Amino acid sequence: MNNIRTVRGGGNLQGIITVPGDKSISHRALIIGSIAEGETLIEGFLHSEDPISTADCLRKLGVNIPHIHKDEPFTISGLGLNGFKEPKEILNCGNSGTTMRLLMGLLAGHEGKNFILTGDSSLNERPMGRVSKPLALMGGRFFGRENGSKAPISIGGNKLKGCFIGTPVASAQVKSAILLAGLKASGTTSVIEPASSRDHTERMLKAFGADINIRGELGRNVVIKSGKTLIGQKILIPGDISSAAFWMIAASIVPNSDILIKNIGLNPTRTGILDIMDQMGCNYEIVEKSIIAGEPIGSINVKTANNLRPFTVEGEILPKLIDEIPILTVAACFCQGVSKIKDAQELRVKETDRLKVMARQLKRFGAKITEKEDGLIINGESKFNSAEVDSETDHRISMSLAIASLLAKGSSKILRAEASNVSYPTFWADLAKLTN
Ligand code: S3P
Repeated sequence: MNNIRTVRGGGNLQGIITVPGDKSISHRALIIGSIAEGETLIEGFLHSEDPISTADCLRKLGVNIPHIHKDEPFTISGLGLNGFKEPKEILNCGNSGTTMRLLMGLLAGHEGKNFILTGDSSLNERPMGRVSKPLALMGGRFFGRENGSKAPISIGGNKLKGCFIGTPVASAQVKSAILLAGLKASGTTSVIEPASSRDHTERMLKAFGADINIRGELGRNVVIKSGKTLIGQKILIPGDISSAAFWMIAASIVPNSDILIKNIGLNPTRTGILDIMDQMGCNYEIVEKSIIAGEPIGSINVKTANNLRPFTVEGEILPKLIDEIPILTVAACFCQGVSKIKDAQELRVKETDRLKVMARQLKRFGAKITEKEDGLIINGESKFNSAEVDSETDHRISMSLAIASLLAKGSSKILRAEASNVSYPTFWADLAKLTN
């Protein structure tokens, strides 16, 4: 499929929107609900390709998940920690790294049962050794290309033992896989990461009754003890800040804009973009703050800001804005000076090599970007011309290029725009709603 979208430059953004549910929390609600005892009610679920891949895999494992309708709450009946059946079919994770990595941890301890995981051409090239290697220390058995480092991967369910694991990458997917494996391992499993990544798994496991504790400097050490029964819960999923980010940046850089984005998740492990917007001098306010199901939420009012300052992204903030680098690269093109993105090697192993693809595509509008091994250097004060650009199949690139097109003179075309369905199927409708 090659869906081409045309986006006209000029105009402004006005109005109130609610972005779809948080992708990370949607995956976890399904996964943790599936291994709990009793029913879990899920409201605000992200009805997009990635979480639907998770639902399809869990159904093949025997979980009773009803057909999910957009904007309708639903209930799943958990099977408990030992209830999965050996599936007759291959579990297809589609484009979703979260699905594959979390399932690797979830399934590794199902003694005597075998599972095969695969994905699309992008996912089957992404690194899985970062999960299979630490899980092997616990007794996990993974087979696949490059020693179990690339999917398709088969898992030989095995008895696991709790371990102390230091991971070299700050990745919530890796940490979560280890914690899920820890639920079925003997004794205590402890994972320490080099910088704090998103903590939705920890919060949700705690809410379901797991014996899980956060320790160490800046909470980088998470300890889980097996033996507790998880009990089904009611989960209300807030809007995804990573989806809201497109509008937060668009309203900041498109002249004469003023928007309100309702009910977005403001978990502090996800709000790095707000710190960078502060560095830039963006004009925003957080209103209607509250806590829902253990997660802080709020609405954000963003207005255009003039004379935006250049910014630097580096070090420990990276995991807190890892998915926002593509849209921040667009923002940097309109700041007054040189912005730097450093320590961002992880971007090279996302759905695409996002450093390379963003540099390549934004140059088509006339952006001045230099690609470095670990990041980008972006000269601001760009004048964008209309262009024909390509998502290269990456959802966040598709949406970032749409926002970039708003700043170009004339109409631009985005090829393979449908990539946005992975995380934000209503993106184009929301763009039409907000733009004048
Ligand atoms: C996610 C974690 C991040 C993020 C991804 C979702 C999650 O990946 O990029 O979109 O839900 O745990 P890493 O943990 O690999 O950095």
